[in-house]
Amino acid sequence: MTRTALVTGARRGIGKAIALELARAGFDVAVMDLAISDELQSVADNIKSLGRNSVAVAGDIANTKGHDAILDAATAALGPLTTLVNNAGVSVMSRGDLLDVSTESFDRCLDVNTRGTFFLTQAFARQLLRSQLEGHRSIITISSSNAVAVSVTRGEYCISKAGASMMSKLFATRLCNDGIGVYEIQPGFIETDMTAPSKARYDKLIEEGLTVIKRFGRPEEVACIAVTLASGLLPYTSGQIIQADAGLLTVRY
Ligand code: NAI
Repeated sequence: MTRTALVTGARRGIGKAIALELARAGFDVAVMDLAISDELQSVADNIKSLGRNSVAVAGDIANTKGHDAILDAATAALGPLTTLVNNAGVSVMSRGDLLDVSTESFDRCLDVNTRGTFFLTQAFARQLLRSQLEGHRSIITISSSNAVAVSVTRGEYCISKAGASMMSKLFATRLCNDGIGVYEIQPGFIETDMTAPSKARYDKLIEEGLTVIKRFGRPEEVACIAVTLASGLLPYTSGQIIQADAGLLTVRY
């Protein structure tokens, strides 16, 4: 069976790394982002240069009415999909006091990170069940350490990722007897455009012991974990959460 993945938010950062690593592992990969930018197209071209099939797909996961079109475009180009990687996500519009969180930023976080992710997963799950493919199939959601850990200046992001984490557990429970593995990766501090504005501040905290491993992670390291999960290398598990966080959440004293 050809293994075929859709990766959301694949233009740059963690999504791009996951798309390329899946291709290196033998997956055909549809790369999806808000627009068909040069960056997104070049990820698709890179995948093709690795000898795998790829297509760039534009869409906004916050727009639930567009989900079927995203899945249809990917399927039309690559055949039935076997893996969904829910990577697309947004941070807060601005950090600040919890007492000042705006409804605009709250709704944006929830619309993309939770609601859009939930309904894309639902549409994908329906498609998978209809297609009756054999072999390991998977849904991998990139949530965050903030699904668990409080960052009080980014409350709406924390809430949205806690919701995404519960979504993953719910779908894991619903789909495990259909041979579909549903997993969650909780990255900590990964060096991407999203974290660039706060990198210097976190570098200092990391040096002072915030994490057990004293460095930022690389997108490729999260990608390795995603490929392991997509390849079915964690048998007899359901709803597994992998903390790609350098020990950030390890309780210590
Ligand atoms: P990034 O900002 O570099 O990349 C995110 C991508 O998602 C962008 O290409 C963006 O255009 C796309 N995107 C945003 N909203 C979208 C939408 N509505 N529909 C389709 N695509 C959309 O971010 P990064 O750092 O690569 O993060 C990827 C995921 O990992 C996000 O869900 C983020 O919350 C999560 N994460 C990142 C961490 C980090 O340290 N970088 C830590 C924990 C979680």
